[in-house]
Amino acid sequence: MFIKNHWYAVEFGSEVAAEPVLARVHGHDLVLWRSHDGTVNAQSDLCVHRGGSLAGGKVVGNCVQCPYHGWRYGADGACVEIPANRHGLPIPRKARIDTYPCVERYGFVWVFLGDLAAEQRPPLPVLDGLEEHTEAKAAGYRAIFGEFTWNANYDRVLENAVDIAHTPFVHSGSFGNAEQPEIEEFDLQEERKDGFLASVTATVDLEPPRPSGLWKFISSKERPPVSTTTGFYPPNVSLLIVRLPMGEIRIFTAAVPRSEHVTVSKFAMLRTFFTGGWADKNSMQRTIKIFREDQPTVEGQRPELLPFDLSAELHVKSDSIQLAYRRWRSEQINRGWGLEVLPDETAMRAAAVIPSPARASDPELANAWVFPTVAEAASSQTGTGSPQ
Ligand code: FES
Ligand SMILES: [Fe+2]
Repeated sequence: MFIKNHWYAVEFGSEVAAEPVLARVHGHDLVLWRSHDGTVNAQSDLCVHRGGSLAGGKVVGNCVQCPYHGWRYGADGACVEIPANRHGLPIPRKARIDTYPCVERYGFVWVFLGDLAAEQRPPLPVLDGLEEHTEAKAAGYRAIFGEFTWNANYDRVLENAVDIAHTPFVHSGSFGNAEQPEIEEFDLQEERKDGFLASVTATVDLEPPRPSGLWKFISSKERPPVSTTTGFYPPNVSLLIVRLPMGEIRIFTAAVPRSEHVTVSKFAMLRTFFTGGWADKNSMQRTIKIFREDQPTVEGQRPELLPFDLSAELHVKSDSIQLAYRRWRSEQINRGWGLEVLPDETAMRAAAVIPSPARASDPELANAWVFPTVAEAASSQTGTGSPQ
């Protein structure tokens, strides 16, 4: 199950340069490319002619050009050129691809995956402390960027990122203290905006282990508790703030669901100490080490997919952030925003797409779509249900 009608952080803006880029989100291929004015476009990657992958093509004349027969699609998704057609032949109305609202902010490309009109959409997340810029920037911080691939479902990956109680066990080789597994009482901070859940965070004091490596040199002998904040911005970004005596670390991670079984975590890690470029390599190694510590545990969880039923696993007090995530997820499914994942056999036969806003809002285009939506493909396979 995949939640539609939200803004997903799917890629770093810096990855989208002159050439189109493929971004796979929950089995759906998107092409990201820049118009002349620098804005990023996010569209269905499938050319409606013969299903060519547009990300394998080029940006030509403010359009994305399919590598197969050179059809060109503009930023609104309409095809503007079919090179093999004799001059003057009209371009069919159905020569168009789904186009998704797209914003570049905080270093990420955010794509609205759904068909709601602008005024009905949940707002774009506001990442605490970052400037509303196309780069991940905050005064006094040095940022590095990286990614990590998991053979695990994204709900499991996101929950791991906000899980406080695993630290003394899974991370005893880095920042967790195996001798201090108890988690103090904490309150959830839930923020809402325009009627939608905007963020859930919690702050706790964790007992630090002895510092190691480079950090030994500027760590004091005293080891006061480390104030740590963790949480998430629906649908797919998590936050971790660690306030060390020597300064602060702030990590924003987008859990990009490639498929039900593969997730790529794309992270921006900011620090207020060792702000010279010379320490970037060390920061990167420390961050990747933490992901590696988590990897066997997260990839080993069963069932692979998060249970729908809240009573299917046993929750305790320290799991309240993950529970908030599960509640949010159930709410979205209850309002009809869950998108089924098509069985492989169906997906191989039908190039189904996530419906874009133009499908719902423009009656002129009601029959202008070559590929079915996921819901249409699913119902035509089973012969039941009505398309959404
Ligand atoms: S498949 Fe894209 S132009 Fe033919
Ligand atoms: Fe972890």
